Amino acid sequence: MANIKFIQEDKEVVAADGANLREKALENKIDIYTFKGKMLNCGGYGQCGTCIVEVLEGMENLSERTAAEEKKLKKKPDSYRLSCQTIVNGGNVTIGTKPQAR
Ligand code: FES
Repeated sequence: MANIKFIQEDKEVVAADGANLREKALENKIDIYTFKGKMLNCGGYGQCGTCIVEVLEGMENLSERTAAEEKKLKKKPDSYRLSCQTIVNGGNVTIGTKPQAR
């Protein structure tokens, strides 16, 4: 089991190992998209780059960056991930939403 903490929202959610981070956020009404992302998101296919989150703790508990992330996050800090491409493999993870808008 994994425990995902969304720091700004002050919400902790439990996830099965192998859960998709974007799906877990949406399921728990965590708002991961900025206004533009709400209008234009690709629905989780790694194409739009609007589902960015910042991993504050627990990167070691997440899947490796995918090729789509390498492309979209080339100029972003290593702590940024596309949530739709990120699998939670257990343990504790702390996430900051909308880092690009902060
Ligand atoms: S939802 Fe489009 S890249 Fe993640």
